[in-house]
Amino acid sequence: MSTTTLLRALRPSTGSTSILRIRQIPRYYSSKITVGGKEYPTDEYTNLPPHIEACVGRNLHLSPNHPISITRRLIERRFPAPVYKAHNTLSPIVSVQQNFDSLGFPLDHPGRSRTDTYYINEKTVMRTHTSAHQADTFAAGESEGFTIAADVYRRDAIDRSHYPVFHQMEGARMWSRSEVPNGDIAAAVRADLEKLPKHDLVVEDSGPIFHEGNPLQKAHSAEECEAIAAHLKRSLEGVVVEVFGQAKKAAIAAGEAKEDDAPLRVRWIEAYFPFTTPSWELEVLWQGEWLELLGCGVVQQSIPDNAGTPDKVGWAFGVGLERVAMLLFGIPDIRLFWSKDERFLTQFAEGRITKFQSFSKYPPCYKDVAFWLPSSSSSAGGQVAFHENDMMETVRGVAGDLAEDVRLTDEFTHPKSGKKSMCFRINYRSLEKTLTNEETNALHEAVRTALKEKYAVELR
Ligand code: PHE
Repeated sequence: MSTTTLLRALRPSTGSTSILRIRQIPRYYSSKITVGGKEYPTDEYTNLPPHIEACVGRNLHLSPNHPISITRRLIERRFPAPVYKAHNTLSPIVSVQQNFDSLGFPLDHPGRSRTDTYYINEKTVMRTHTSAHQADTFAAGESEGFTIAADVYRRDAIDRSHYPVFHQMEGARMWSRSEVPNGDIAAAVRADLEKLPKHDLVVEDSGPIFHEGNPLQKAHSAEECEAIAAHLKRSLEGVVVEVFGQAKKAAIAAGEAKEDDAPLRVRWIEAYFPFTTPSWELEVLWQGEWLELLGCGVVQQSIPDNAGTPDKVGWAFGVGLERVAMLLFGIPDIRLFWSKDERFLTQFAEGRITKFQSFSKYPPCYKDVAFWLPSSSSSAGGQVAFHENDMMETVRGVAGDLAEDVRLTDEFTHPKSGKKSMCFRINYRSLEKTLTNEETNALHEAVRTALKEKYAVELR
């Protein structure tokens, strides 16, 4: 399970004769690891593998002409200075306090577990979301609003829309009780709302602003909450207008859509995040499907309170940039964003939305692996030592971007021995060439060996 509901290889070296490099997975960590050029002590929490560390510093969101950066700039246009300040170079290495505690994550929240999160050590993680920087940014108080675009890290499934490193943009807008005229937050927010551009989007928003299941906070009056929610929703609907308006223009240019096609439709769905209430998700109807775009809500008052700015109230949102970029540019596989292949990189230019032209589709190759877990990991009620994400990590570690998806196809517990069996189907496919049989076999054999060595599974 991911930290929240929001979105969500060896590096193929272009030009070389073989892209097949099978990686060695370290079984132990030495007493220190280097992440982003800095050394950190390790402990029993450490689970950051080298192939994930290798992504630190790639900064796709800052690479001119890269679809992730183009998408970031498109969204930033809706949050201009001086009200909003853009922070785009914050380090991905954060404390557990920043990533979870400061945001009120309960101690038993699944997002905190080592199966979901990359730990450098007990106190230090790779940020799982840009919300990790909310409290510090409120405390610094440099501007009324801000955006934060950054790489985020989560142990997760392998498929064409999930990658363990992806990008988010956080946004927030706060108003200060001590600075608004007469201390009247609701009036100040409504005045700012009036200044936001109107749009002709079709918006479905049926529920009450707040109710028992998506409650108003004690620190806010109903009027304040309503004004903040209205400002939040209008601001984000503006993002959809900006982004999907551009996508539609690109689709018309490519002959895939017509000027008089149906107008854009979005809907607000109630959501839950530990750090906002009330909370929502925004979905957009895109090619017949409702897609979740972002999460947002009224900032939990404990966050600015604990950051030493108790007079501030406002809203925050977080949007996954890959999801938006895949729609905008028609990019079918999330691995492509990490490609260093010129055939990918030369297709895009800053400020322009163009449809991705695939450089032919290479054939897939499916292989199954089945194994018994060691008996300690299937004992009733005991600690389960093997998590599906461990499988994902193992495959990613060995095959890198040559793994397109991995699916659990069968799972059962032997009635007599109580032993648990799992079967996974791995689809190997390169984005850049046809893999030979020998190459795929070698990859698969390396996955089997890694599973045996790392998790003591009994291969079947
Ligand atoms: N951090 C949340 C996520 O990663 C998104 C979010 C940000 C929700 C800010 C509410 C407010 O899913």
